[in-house]
Amino acid sequence: MDLANVLYEVKDGIALVTVNRPDKLNALNRRTLEDLAEAFAAASSDASVGAVILTGAGEKAFVAGADIGEIAGLDSQSGREFALYGQGVFRAIETFPKPVIAAVNGFALGGGCELAMACHVRIAAENASFGQPEVNLGVIPGYGGTQRLARLVGRGLALELLLTGDRIAAPRAAELGLVNAVVPSADLQARATETARKMLTKAPLALRHCLEAVNTGLDMPLEEGCYLEATLFGLCCASEDMKEGTDAFLQKRKPAFKGR
Ligand code: COA
Repeated sequence: MDLANVLYEVKDGIALVTVNRPDKLNALNRRTLEDLAEAFAAASSDASVGAVILTGAGEKAFVAGADIGEIAGLDSQSGREFALYGQGVFRAIETFPKPVIAAVNGFALGGGCELAMACHVRIAAENASFGQPEVNLGVIPGYGGTQRLARLVGRGLALELLLTGDRIAAPRAAELGLVNAVVPSADLQARATETARKMLTKAPLALRHCLEAVNTGLDMPLEEGCYLEATLFGLCCASEDMKEGTDAFLQKRKPAFKGR
């Protein structure tokens, strides 16, 4: 892989993807988005990878937003394309077939907050902060923020954050349901790794179908979402892992899942 602004490392079944432009607080320029897309494609096709942890380089930022220097040069046509490109990269993360954990180690603003929201689970360091400050720049979020924030925290709180551009600290983000947990900064990577490791002990196909049931089902009426769930449940029942999981329970031993 030829990555300029993202670090990619696989260890013990976990891909660690690090946005690496610390001098620009990991702001997402086009190249960084392309690198993210490439890193996630690699993690998707690598059968040895069971989960991904996404974080930012340095002490200060997860990602401080889309690159404002690039935004400044956009017109209506290129602005639309800019948003659609980023949305596509983030959607690929949201629909990623393996768990993606955001380890939010500082500023998660604008595109950074949107990136964290596209991940499946968000663990924040105590020094993390969140916000959608785009209205300060004369724009709105373009990478799915208006949609995912409202779905995560509800319409009223999302509109308050979007319309004020306020930055909130990690504990408040946890109160709102924007993050799953807040941990001391020194413990962030260990906590994200521990969470990923726990998921790695589960049946991979079941994880994949959980992700699909929630990601696709939430956009459907309840009845259709339940129908999708039943279909995915049926697919699980045809897997070797379902036989292994139920056998192991009945035989009072630990299951050895194979992802088949
Ligand atoms: N795009 C481009 N560059 C960015 C950036 C972004 N979103 N966020 C930070 N940077 C750059 C700064 O321009 C600065 O670069 P320089 O050293 O070459 O001047 C560097 O990162 C460090 O940022 P700085 O502002 O000096 O750090 P700070 O600690 O004083 O402030 C923030 C941190 C996050 C409050 C501030 O950088 C900020 O408000 N960033 C923009 C956040 C934003 O609006 N995001 C949404 C974009 S749509």
